[in-house]
Order: sequence, then structure tokens, then C-alpha cells
Amino acid sequence: MAREFEGRVVLITGGAGDIARAAARRFAEGGARLVLADTDATGLEAACADLKARGAGAEGRALDVTDVGAVEAAVAGLGGGLDVLVNCAGIYHHRLVVEMSEQEWDQTLDVNLKGVFSACRAAGRAMAARERGGTIVNLASVSAQRGSALHAHYCASKAGLIGFGRALALELAPRVRVNAVAPGIIESRMIEEMLRVRGEEWRRQIPLARFGRPEDVAEAICFLASDRAAYINGAVLNVNGGMWMD
Ligand SMILES: NC(=O)c1ccc[n+]([C@@H]2O[C@H](COP(=O)([O-])OP(=O)(O)OC[C@H]3O[C@@H](n4cnc5c(N)ncnc54)[C@H](O)[C@@H]3O)[C@@H](O)[C@H]2O)c1
Repeated sequence: MAREFEGRVVLITGGAGDIARAAARRFAEGGARLVLADTDATGLEAACADLKARGAGAEGRALDVTDVGAVEAAVAGLGGGLDVLVNCAGIYHHRLVVEMSEQEWDQTLDVNLKGVFSACRAAGRAMAARERGGTIVNLASVSAQRGSALHAHYCASKAGLIGFGRALALELAPRVRVNAVAPGIIESRMIEEMLRVRGEEWRRQIPLARFGRPEDVAEAICFLASDRAAYINGAVLNVNGGMWMD
């Protein structure tokens, strides 16, 4: 494939995570310069070392997406040079609604939804202010579409993110495209624990008969961020092996 991201700057929140790292490698193959932002400093170091070993430009930035000021500063630090924002930062905690504390609800909504709002607001302002615009890809989830017991806060955050993204796609057009990927069950650190408990039950619900890999999601993220998707705006692309169709 051509170096379709040559000269482009890509910021990925949750950049030390498994899906983010697979996407970063794929963007790097396309010639992008990566800025990975995460609360996990050790993971960031490893992710950046891996990218640099592949000859890519990469820098890690310690960032908590719930810190609105820090998110603004991170985007401002790119000096108007941001081309692609990918919002991968997320948490996935388990609790029945009837046992859930207000603090647990707020924490998930703060990271998964408000964090996306802050990053999109900062990036959207910067991208919309310049001729060549930019593009944003958010990480939704099949959980937003079909529900998931023990994860009502997570489902609500991801469903919120879909509605938020559609509104933003209208507001930032025509210079900035906003899309989402909705992964199904992807083998990553995030769901290791649930895979042990519900793995077999889940696998039976996937027509393609396997869990997804971070690379499967990375491919969809990079497609939506690329010029190949130049006429795609406000979309939610399912990457779930067929376990949910809409
Ligand atoms: N793995 C799946 O099955 C699956 C399915 C659907 C959607 N997703 C979504 O994809 C995205 C990536 O998930 P993943 O599977 O790679 O998980 P992951 O746990 O490997 O990555 C998530 C990353 O987000 C970071 N993070 C958490 N809170 C943060 C904060 N406040 N500020 C900055 N960074 C923070 C974590 O440190 C971690 O590196 C998430 O948004 C997740 O909800 C994953």
C-alpha cells in the first residue's frame, strides 16, 4: 500500500492499549508520525520503542483524558498540525446496576464519554480552523448496540459516543470527518477477565467463529482515517464477526 499517511500527525488517546498499538503500527506503515497519549507511562514507553524500531516517528505523552485542561494542552502542543485523532482511551468495569455506585457510573462516563468530548472539542477546533481539516475516529462498541449485563455504564458511554459523534460529524463538516468503529469481542487486555468467565458463551454468538484481533479493528480505524474514506462521514463501522448487524 502507498504511504497514505505520509506527513500526517496522528494522535491516539489510550495509545498504550492493544487496539491503539495495532492502529499505531498500521498508521506508521503508512508514513504517519504518531503521538500516543495514555495514563500508562510504562506501556507508552514500550509502544513508542516498538514504533521507533520500525522506523516511525513516535512520541508518548502522559495524559489522563478526564483532565480537560491537559487534553487541551496536548492538542495545543501539536501547534495546529494534528491531522487525525483516534479516541481509544477507555475503561471496562463490571457491576450490576443495582449494585453500582454513583462514583463507578461517573468514572466510566468521565473516561469513555467526557474524555472523547474533550479530545474532540480540542481537535475539532484546531482542525476546523485550517484549510486541510482533519479526521476523527471514535471507538464505540457492540455493547452499545446489543447491551451487556454488568456493563450498563460502559454501554451507556459507548451509545452516547455514537450520538455525540453523529452530531459532531454534522457540526464539523465539511472540513472534518467524524466516524466510529464498533468492535465486537476483541482479544485485548481490556476483556481478559470477561473472556475467562464468558468466553465460550460469547464465541458461540460470533458467526465468524473467532474473537477479533486488535489488527482487525486497526484496519477499520485506518481506513476511516484515510482519504479512501473521503466521502464517509458520521458512520459507525461494525467490526464484530457478524455478531450484530445494523
Ligand atoms: N477489546 C474489546 O473487546 C473492545 C470492544 C469494543 C470496544 N473497545 C474499545 O476499544 C478501545 C481500546 O480498547 P482495548 O481493547 O485496546 O483496551 P486496552 O485496555 O488495551 O486499552 C485502553 C487504554 O486506555 C487507557 N486509558 C484508560 N483510562 C485512561 C484515561 N483516563 N486517560 C488516558 N488513557 C486511559 C489504558 O491505560 C489503556 O492503555 C476502548 O475504547 C474500548 O472500549 C474494545
